[in-house]
Amino acid sequence: MYRSHSCGELRESNINEVVTLSGWVHKTRDKGFVAWVDLRDRYGITQLVFDEKRTSTELLEKARNLGREFVVQVKGKVIERASKNNNIATGDIEVLVQELNILNTSKTPPFTIEDQTDGGEDLRMKYRYLDIRRNPVKENLIFRSQVTMEVRNYLSKEGFIEVETPYLIKSTPEGARDFVVPSRMNEGQFYALPQSPQTFKQLLMVGGMDKYFQIVKCFRDEDLRADRQPEFTQIDCEMAFVEQEDILKAFEGLTRHLLKEIKGVETTEFPRMTYDEAMAKYGNDKPDIRFGMEFGELNSVAQHKDFNVFNSAELVVGIAVPGGASYTRKEIDKLVDWVRRPQVGAKGMVYVKCNEDGSFKSSVDKFYDQDDLGNWAKATEANPGDLICVLSGNINETRAQLSALRMELAERLGLRNNAEFAPLWVIDFPLLELDEETGRYHAMHHPFTSPKPGQLELLDSEPSNVKANAYDLVLNGNEIGGGSIRIHDKDIQSTMFKHLGFTPEEAKAQFGFLMDAFQYGAPPHGGIAFGLDRLVSILGGQETIRDFIAFPKNNSGRDVMIDAPAPIDREQLKELNLKLDL
Ligand code: AMO
Repeated sequence: MYRSHSCGELRESNINEVVTLSGWVHKTRDKGFVAWVDLRDRYGITQLVFDEKRTSTELLEKARNLGREFVVQVKGKVIERASKNNNIATGDIEVLVQELNILNTSKTPPFTIEDQTDGGEDLRMKYRYLDIRRNPVKENLIFRSQVTMEVRNYLSKEGFIEVETPYLIKSTPEGARDFVVPSRMNEGQFYALPQSPQTFKQLLMVGGMDKYFQIVKCFRDEDLRADRQPEFTQIDCEMAFVEQEDILKAFEGLTRHLLKEIKGVETTEFPRMTYDEAMAKYGNDKPDIRFGMEFGELNSVAQHKDFNVFNSAELVVGIAVPGGASYTRKEIDKLVDWVRRPQVGAKGMVYVKCNEDGSFKSSVDKFYDQDDLGNWAKATEANPGDLICVLSGNINETRAQLSALRMELAERLGLRNNAEFAPLWVIDFPLLELDEETGRYHAMHHPFTSPKPGQLELLDSEPSNVKANAYDLVLNGNEIGGGSIRIHDKDIQSTMFKHLGFTPEEAKAQFGFLMDAFQYGAPPHGGIAFGLDRLVSILGGQETIRDFIAFPKNNSGRDVMIDAPAPIDREQLKELNLKLDL
């Protein structure tokens, strides 16, 4: 038996018991005649004591030679500690060691296994298995497991069936590039790894499964960010005989349950906002509504004066920054520089200081009088003491720039409190999105999303204005889920493909199986998929999903621990009928 107890388990009530523990040597302290060793495992740390008098010189000598991260087994008696440590659960006791068995040695780890480590990101990723020994990483993985378990329990209780769908499939268009896998047995042909199980879950509805879920890996070859990994996990769900309202209710229920069980947070009915409103008020389809700083449109009060920059703009829009009137000239200049960085892309920024005495001081005093600026303050709901930041230009770009500034300032002002949870449904998304480069429309969500009732007729005349039965669930400014009511009629699906630029032959080649299935009694259906990594990290109070994934990829899509991707040898290439021009 390797152990009778874990390293996080022993208390005062165990005093005088003889126990066996196994774990890693966390730290050793040597006082000459006595040495202490902190023994660590997943459950905690227990102090071991080796004493010349109470044990033996030989044992003390052996303990002295233990290196960091050696794996050991000890047998000894639980005794009361002379000086208690209130910081750890086992701090009242220590184990007076009678037997020490070295199970394995360890090289000195390249970074300290402490909550605050001296290892940089790259090093920690290369030795991720050592990183996982650290509390913050270990706790994130345990937290993820709890969330996953809670999701499974809740959905199972609600009558959802977990069904696995294949990973070796044909491309499903979710807007990213596919990862492809060459087929050895079918020369020149490739599988694609699923960007999501979208078409399969729809086929499960045709198959009568009624309520499906799956905690499933998805693969997307896209540019990586803090909230994006090339392989990530979805809580993928689908239901038959439902309307949008049914889906929103069902998955609001799941989210509310998680917030309560995992975070102890009670939530009332989630607010809903249309896509158009989110864009106008926050410049963003995933607004963080934990704080205000809503956009105030200034076209009517800022145009038609002599300020040409605003007169020629499609949109003039501002936000009020709480307490910003006290910023120095230098601080404001820095903000202007911030919005002009290429990543944000604004040409400049106009500002108005709302003084405590009710007067205004702006960077455009030459063009606007106090009454004008008063109207700006009204439109942006600025109070005395605030700073109004104004951007202008093309609608989409200006909204995106001001949204970036709003989030940055909220971060700096500490308004993004990670103990607070503000869920929001964003609904009524546009069905189509114009790709400015190609001039072609593509599905904003995916091609299987149904237009809102009565909107199909607009597809020809005003494609940009067609609204979809599509919705996103937003939590603290992050899109944690998205879904839609699907098309379940073959003809409507064919019309959709036509509008997305597929010839009938292309549509048949790519999605013939789905349209065939629709001819055999496809029920009305719809669903949603949550990004599990994002959900877990936000519930955990963070926004970097890497920290909640055991073995994540870095920003270049590499696993630096196993060194992947990597070349494959010529034999393997030949077997797969792949020719590389070297
Ligand atoms: P969608 O593409 O919106 O919908 O994806 C659903 C959710 O998955 C998460 N997500 C990601 N998380 C980490 N890294 C990524 N690269 C990544 N991409 C997406 C997001 C997102 O909200 N089949 C549809 C769902 C449906 O219609 O039912 C789909 O995949 O949190």
